[in-house]
Amino acid sequence: MNVNYHSKQWALIYDQFNQGRYQKELAFYRAELKQCAGPVLEVACGNGMIFLELLQEGFDIYGFDISQEMLDSLFGKADALGQQEGRARVSRQNMVDFSYDLKFGGIYIPARSFLHLLSQEEQIQCLRNIYHHLREGGKFLLNFFNPSLHYLFANAGPAEQFEFIKGFTNPETGESVRLLCKQENDVVRQEQRILWRFSEGDRTHDVPMKLRWIYKEEFQLLLQLAGFKKWKVYGDFDRSEEVTAGSELIWVAERT
Ligand SMILES: C[S@@+](CC[C@H](N)C(=O)[O-])C[C@H]1O[C@@H](n2cnc3c(N)ncnc32)[C@H](O)[C@@H]1O
Repeated sequence: MNVNYHSKQWALIYDQFNQGRYQKELAFYRAELKQCAGPVLEVACGNGMIFLELLQEGFDIYGFDISQEMLDSLFGKADALGQQEGRARVSRQNMVDFSYDLKFGGIYIPARSFLHLLSQEEQIQCLRNIYHHLREGGKFLLNFFNPSLHYLFANAGPAEQFEFIKGFTNPETGESVRLLCKQENDVVRQEQRILWRFSEGDRTHDVPMKLRWIYKEEFQLLLQLAGFKKWKVYGDFDRSEEVTAGSELIWVAERT
């Protein structure tokens, strides 16, 4: 099932693709999580780009993801780093109905992963589940983009051509990989539908991805439905409060 991150192609180039965003996000989440009392949990930890860094720094951290391909990549990186504990602390679960016997001091969802939930039922179930897994005073942190309607609506029509995004190197074969994409957005369902094309030698792999964008006001209602009463929202990882179309929305909510 080559869809979203259920794809070896994504697992192979994920770290190269995400170099740009990673340092800023890591710095923000590290600083926030340091203030949390108790274990912390990364929801949708992927191939461990942030998770493994925090594990190595000594955080009492757990993580899960739905994609076996991303988890296999995480396990390979953990073994290479001599962090075998990574395997014990990571599991395959769905953010909608994940379950732990533990309560966490901090739960975070970096890299816009929450947008992979495509219905309100799933979004609310996930947020209620997060609330349930937080200790009193525990923090819930996440980021996703503030929709730029100009950009999303400009890509609403049927997509005809692939656009070249960037070149990468396949770490297993040393071959170059060209990443292309086209998108066709459903502005009624708030769905960004992207078709990624990985082109390596004479082979191509197409991997569809769907995200549901969320407005700032909409997310505040979702937080309330899940039981949260207190939160802050920033427009940048430097904690500036100015939110603009296309900027990031960074949320820090608290279980009171
Ligand atoms: C953009 S990646 C983020 C990975 C990692 N958190 C990071 O910061 O690099 C999105 C991740 O969300 C995961 N994902 C998507 N839907 C999910 C779900 N319902 N439950 C758990 N993980 C999910 C994908 O498999 C993918 O690994």
